This record gives sequence, structure tokens and C-alpha cells, in this order.
Amino acid sequence: MIQATIFDLDGVIVDTAKYHYLAWRKLANSLGFDFSEEDNEQLKGVSRMQSLELILDIGGKTLDEAIKQQLATKKNDWYLEHLNQMTSDEILPGVVDFLEDVAQQGVKIALGSASKNAVKTLEKVGLIDRFEVIIDGTKTTRSKPDPQVFQMGAEGLGVATENCIVFEDAAKGVSAALSAGMYTVGIGTEADLGHAHTVISSFEGLGLKDIMTLVEKNNKP
Ligand code: BG6
Ligand code: MG
Repeated sequence: MIQATIFDLDGVIVDTAKYHYLAWRKLANSLGFDFSEEDNEQLKGVSRMQSLELILDIGGKTLDEAIKQQLATKKNDWYLEHLNQMTSDEILPGVVDFLEDVAQQGVKIALGSASKNAVKTLEKVGLIDRFEVIIDGTKTTRSKPDPQVFQMGAEGLGVATENCIVFEDAAKGVSAALSAGMYTVGIGTEADLGHAHTVISSFEGLGLKDIMTLVEKNNKP
């Protein structure tokens, strides 16, 4: 029985995954190498500092801690330039109706994001009040695929992990939700997220019952 939904933020609620990519790519380019959209799949759901480590690996760079902190700040400043322009137009298709449907059924709603900009993002797009519990990168100590963020979400809502369903656009986020023992829906493609219980391309036209039907039909372990 589903009693709670836990949503990732970037790439699930809002179309910010592209802005993270643009800012990281700008940083990589400033260091003299390029960084493809394919490489970017590995960064989705990963904390800021761990993303930087992955990028520096791709570029074959070894830098000291102080420089790394400066680079992470620079990337975030570029990212915030996009975020500060954001409006509710960047909420992904079908999300508002879906959140409404979940709430109407008396099912709880939490956020489970790696981002330290999560509260600011939800405020910008006017969705902050929809979330009873917000677990973000300011509260977690371990990055996805570690299940910590989702376990904390379930705990905050007071719901057992097996009664939660997670929505994720990142391969590592799907793995995190599966290790938390939760139903897991990938938002994206089978190629990237085939390990989820089910994959949808967007929330458009779907309610919670439709999603549960898809999950049950796929009958994955
Ligand atoms: C995740 C994004 O939600 O948050 C990652 O998928 C991002 O791309 C991570 O690096 C951390 O975000 P922030 O806003 O704290 O730099
Ligand atoms: Mg995401």
C-alpha cells in the first residue's frame, strides 16, 4: 500500500538538469576539456563536490582542495544565474496535476534531493508548500546511490520504506531508492533507468493509480 511519495527535484519536478549540465560544461571548458551529455548522466543525482570529482577525472585533472572548493563555488554561481531567472514555467509537464492527485488521495509528499539549492528552487517555482518534508543536500551526508536521502524522507513522514514510492531521473537515484526498499519510478528512458520498477517519459496525463498499475504490470522484484 502506498502511503508516501518521495520526489527527486532536478529533472523530476523542475527542468533544471539542463542548467546543471550547462554550468558543469562551462567549468570543464574553462579548464580546457569538454564534457558530453552522456558523461553528464553519471553526474545526475550526485552532490556538488562529488560531481566535481567526476568531472576532474574525465579531464584527467588533479587539483588541491582549496582550488576544488573555488571551482565548485564558481559552478554554483553560474548555475544560480539560471536559477534566479526561473519561473513556474520550468515545472515539468504534468507535475502540478500529479502532486494534486497524490494530495487528494491522502498520500504524503516529500522531497529527496542532493541539491543544496532545493529550497530556493521550490520557492522560485512556487511549489514549496506542497512538500511536507524536504530532505536535501544540506541535510544528507551520503550521496545517491546511497539510500540515506530517501530513508530520511520516509522517517520524516513517519511512513515505512516499503510503503513509499520514489520518482527519479538519475540512474544513481533509482539505485538509491531500490536499496531503500521503495517502489521506484524512473522519469526518462529505459536505456538509462531500466532498473526502476517502471519508467515513464513524463507525468503528463498520469495519476498515482496509473503509475501503480504500471509498477504492478511490470512485476519487477
Ligand atoms: C542533484 C543534481 O539534484 O543535485 C546534480 O541532479 C547536482 O546535478 C546535485 O550536482 C547538487 O546540486 P547543488 O544545487 O547542491 O549543486
Ligand atoms: Mg534529478
